[in-house]
Amino acid sequence: MLTQTQLKQNVAAAAMEFVLPLLTPSTVLGVGTGSTVDLFIDALAPHKHRFRGAVSSSERSSSRMAALGIPVFDLNEVQAMPLYVDGADEVDHELNMIKGGGGALTREKIVASVAERFICIVDESKRVQVLGKFPLPVEVIPMARESVARRLTALGGKPALREGFITDNGCQILDVSGLSIDSPAQFEAELNNIPGVVCCGLFALSGASVVLMSTQQGVRQLTKSSS
Ligand code: A5P
Repeated sequence: MLTQTQLKQNVAAAAMEFVLPLLTPSTVLGVGTGSTVDLFIDALAPHKHRFRGAVSSSERSSSRMAALGIPVFDLNEVQAMPLYVDGADEVDHELNMIKGGGGALTREKIVASVAERFICIVDESKRVQVLGKFPLPVEVIPMARESVARRLTALGGKPALREGFITDNGCQILDVSGLSIDSPAQFEAELNNIPGVVCCGLFALSGASVVLMSTQQGVRQLTKSSS
């Protein structure tokens, strides 16, 4: 029986195999945040001479890549990005995701929006029928925290402030439990429209292009039609 760490190592290695043939000297990769991505960064480092560098979604990943000698670029310096590789907290059968458990959701959504394809790397514990068991992170402008919380409560959620946590953008996070998200894209649009919401952790209006899912039987590659 593989442990969760071994499952994460396997999917990080599979992501490396997926990415390697696509790298060119001018490639700038998008790299996300989390423990699975940390393992992907470690696997990427020995190949750092095969691509130009990376844009990351967090200070944490930027520091890890810089320490391993992978050039890290500001997103404003980059015109094109073929791939964005990141983990997720939940993935459904339509490849919609909840992300932001690590608090980097806004930068993740921005970097992902620039990439041509989002390669999501998860272990099978992240697979769900309906999104919402994992509390949905919502990044908020601090002065709007209570007004946004009231709106989220009216939508059926139970928002809780992530105590003592400030995002890389200087904002706060409400983790919203008690949701069962039947129409993820519609719900994402609804949350995006609440004044004071910087970003929500639903990735449905633009979900994953490919999910690499590590299972006890090996790493499965899921696309919308196959999942
Ligand atoms: C970071 O903000 C999240 O979106 C991560 O992608 C997510 O929490 C997955 O993290 P792990 O790979 O540590 O499970």
